Amino acid sequence: MSSLTGPIGVFDSGLGGLTILKELATTMPWEDFVYLGDIARLPYGTKSQQVVAKYSNTCANFLCQQGIKALVVACNTATAMALPLLRQQLSIPVLGVIEPGVRACLDISEKNPILVLATEGTVKSEAYLKEFQRQGFHGKVDQLFCPLLVPLAEEGWFDHSITKDVIRNYLSSTDISQYGALLLGCTHYPLLEQSFRNVLGDAVPITHGGALLAKQLASFLGEKNLLQTQPRPRAMTFLSTDQIKASLPILNALFTENVFFKTIDL
Ligand code: DGL
Repeated sequence: MSSLTGPIGVFDSGLGGLTILKELATTMPWEDFVYLGDIARLPYGTKSQQVVAKYSNTCANFLCQQGIKALVVACNTATAMALPLLRQQLSIPVLGVIEPGVRACLDISEKNPILVLATEGTVKSEAYLKEFQRQGFHGKVDQLFCPLLVPLAEEGWFDHSITKDVIRNYLSSTDISQYGALLLGCTHYPLLEQSFRNVLGDAVPITHGGALLAKQLASFLGEKNLLQTQPRPRAMTFLSTDQIKASLPILNALFTENVFFKTIDL
């Protein structure tokens, strides 16, 4: 059961979901948040559906034990492979990143084709293809997986020459100017947005669903009288299943407030 005073729980396989947490924390300034980065099991994007579903379940159950009032699955791979299962099992609202990602993309371009960059698991699940269809888009959607971008983001190489080379390499046989939009369908990729922009210039609009997801959750909680609307000091908790050296600079770059940091055993 959700209660007004509970925090909002957010999980990702690692640090990528912090791009979503940032949007949530900006849109809902008086909410408490508990973020769980499953660094010990990263990456999810190369693993099977059964394994990702099991890890997602473990993360979700742990966060529920912290008394969260809503769960954000801030990982595209986990959303693609485990969202229906989590919704079925939990008695709190559970939001994923794929539906708002597609909506954000269609908000800026109805033109086809669209290019989705995501993990191998997300691409092969075809969750994006199905969601574009579900939202009434029947144009062409191309997908590309870019596994090396995940460790580069975890390493904090957001705007680095090697990151740009890797992006160039992944897109080398793609005529980017044909696309109406480029959707960053992995929460790690927005951390590298500056590198994408440097490589691609104005060739294509780049988007992802973080801001829209935050708005959707805020209005949902508002309707249910579960949204903190009074100014109050809030608790931001960052939990990780293993130690991570890159975490503090990333947290400092994204958040100005104090974040309580703890490594947990899951
Ligand atoms: N952040 C994850 C996602 O959005 C991908 C990283 C990983 O492979 O674990 O899919």
